[in-house]
This record gives sequence, structure tokens and C-alpha cells, in this order.
Amino acid sequence: QTIVYRETIDSTNNLAQELANNGAMEGTLVIADEQQQGRGRRGRNWFSPPHSGVWMSLILRPQLPLAHAAQITLVTAIALAKALTRLTGVQAGIKWPNDILFNKKKCCGILTEMHAEFDQIHHLVLGIGINVNVPQEDFPEDIQHIATSLQAVKGTPIPRAKVVQVVLEELEPLYRQYVADGGFGTLRDQWKAHNITLGNEIIAHTAQGTIQGRALDIDEFGVLLVEQPDGEQKKIYSADIMF
Ligand code: BTN
Repeated sequence: QTIVYRETIDSTNNLAQELANNGAMEGTLVIADEQQQGRGRRGRNWFSPPHSGVWMSLILRPQLPLAHAAQITLVTAIALAKALTRLTGVQAGIKWPNDILFNKKKCCGILTEMHAEFDQIHHLVLGIGINVNVPQEDFPEDIQHIATSLQAVKGTPIPRAKVVQVVLEELEPLYRQYVADGGFGTLRDQWKAHNITLGNEIIAHTAQGTIQGRALDIDEFGVLLVEQPDGEQKKIYSADIMF
């Protein structure tokens, strides 16, 4: 496996995209101490100060149709929930589709970016951001009440190299299983075991508008099913969830 390290970078996802476009192998990992323009979902900024987190992007080349990309994010969320639970001794929960939380505060996010040719995935960049050694009071004011770090949860700092190692250890077998199965069906129970979304009243902000209701289940494709107050069920493919 090739690991590309930078002290500082705009975004590890940008470099990973560039390397992938130039033929970098599956498993190539880009990792930086600091991101100047760390990106979150929906064009948001991702707080990535020096030496305080794991900011990394993994290049994957699953030979699968385009529609599978969202499920790989869910598979990654399972791996992260397992890894962060192992590292802290505290149960981490998955908020659909791609946030890992402790006590309702976000510790880790995933930004999956994809390049497809016709209907097939050409490559996928799995961007993973984990707040590691950030004391709770060091988060900027605007995210203080919604963000947390592994250190804040565990009470002691954790070496970032250890975090990278444990995350990759958990991710590799799950990813291989996913690709071998060609689907999310067999991993769905594991996802459910770590999820904190289902059963809650939620508000989902989707590109098509806002949907409010109770999160009932995810189907074998990882699509979220929501029951609205009038009893009607809606499928949600992508959204920001609040509860
Ligand atoms: C989110 O929850 O909105 C996704 C956050 C993803 C952050 C990671 S940090 C490494 C990689 N490079 C980026 O610019 N973003 C992702």
C-alpha cells in the first residue's frame, strides 16, 4: 500500500482525486497533518487544524455499478463505529448516512467522492475526518455544542497513527466482504447494531425538500425509510438528518 503524506494540504480528497485520475492503485492513502480547505458534505467547511485529527483519503476501485457508491459510505461508517468504539472504550453510534457520534456529538465524518464512467465506478475517494486530540473547549464556538473528539470522550490523548491503524484494520475486511457480496445486504445487521438513527423522530433535509417523520429502517440498499405523521412512508436516498 502506498501512503502519501503531507504536512499541510488544501484537502486530502483533492490530492487523492488527482492521484486516482493518474492511475494510483486501490488502497493508496493520502494523509495530512493539516488541511487548509478541509471539505465537508454539502459544500461545508471541515475544521482540520494541525496535529489534532486524522485527515485522510483512501482510493478505492470497486468494480461495481455507480449505484453502489452510497453503500460504500455506509460500510465505512460501520468500520469507523467499530474502530472508534475500540479506541475509546465508549460506544460510538452511526447517524445515517455518514456521521459517527458520541453522546450526540459528531466526532467523525465521511466525504465520498466518485468518478464514474458510463454506469461503472472508475474510482472512489473515501475522505475520512476524525477529531482525535482536540480538547472539548478548543472547538470553535459555532461547533462547540455539536462536535467532539476521541480525546474528549476517552479522557486521554490517543496517538493518531494508532487511530489510522485501527480504522484500516476494521475497514479492510468489511470492504472486501462488501465487494465479494456485491451488496450491502449481509452487512445491514451490523450497520443496525451501531446505528442511532432508527426509531427516532427526524427531520431530513434533502435536495428535494424537508421530510419529517420517524426513521423506520434501512433497506438492503442502505436507503432510509421514514414514516410521516400521516402514515405515508418515504424513501430517502441522501439527506442531512437532525434529531
Ligand atoms: C462531513 O461530515 O461533512 C464529511 C467530513 C469529511 C472530512 C474529511 S477530512 C479528510 C477528507 N478531506 C476533506 O477535505 N474532507 C475529508
